[in-house]
Amino acid sequence: MRAADISDDISEVLLTEEQIHEKLAELATQVAADYEGREVVLVGVLKGAVMVMADFARHLPVHVSMDWMAVSSYGASTRSSGVVQIRKDLDTDITGKHVLIVEDIIDSGLTLSWLLENFASRGAESVEVLALLRKPEAMKVEVDCRYVGFDIPNDFVIGYGLDYAERYRNLRDVAVLAPHVYS
Ligand code: XMP
Ligand code: MG
Repeated sequence: MRAADISDDISEVLLTEEQIHEKLAELATQVAADYEGREVVLVGVLKGAVMVMADFARHLPVHVSMDWMAVSSYGASTRSSGVVQIRKDLDTDITGKHVLIVEDIIDSGLTLSWLLENFASRGAESVEVLALLRKPEAMKVEVDCRYVGFDIPNDFVIGYGLDYAERYRNLRDVAVLAPHVYS
């Protein structure tokens, strides 16, 4: 769906489809250069990172493997609980592998810092993070994120994989959810 299809539900389009694709292409060039000669395991964090993974991975001119993890986060609320639970674990052994975590958004940073520790304890050779979005004002813990698409204001955003109560993931752009939808 496009922003125009749900204009009552959004207060502002933050990033258009075109801006997102251009940025992911840039990041892919950078990642391919940084990992030259080393094959990477991309680990997408379900469900929000599905679109980022699909588009970012297709911009990569090199071989990668893909795996997925699902961890608990917000449910139908707009605030992080800070409690991380694995709902679906990796299918592959990442011991000795170069892992690049692919995330939709770093908000408080709690999910990611937990994931980074978890992956390090499994003996990954290296673990880096690529996040399409980051909210610097909302971060509660420092997370070392090597590849960031956009820093955005501390508003609840939807679209391009990001949901509110499981809706809006299929919006092509990233938009700020209108407060009347969740209050
Ligand atoms: P934290 O706070 O742990 O966030 O960095 C982790 C996960 O929470 C989701 N999240 C959002 N989802 N709009 C959303 O639709 C938002 O503004 C938002 N902020 C956080 C997201 O899944 C992220 O991976
Ligand atoms: Mg997520």
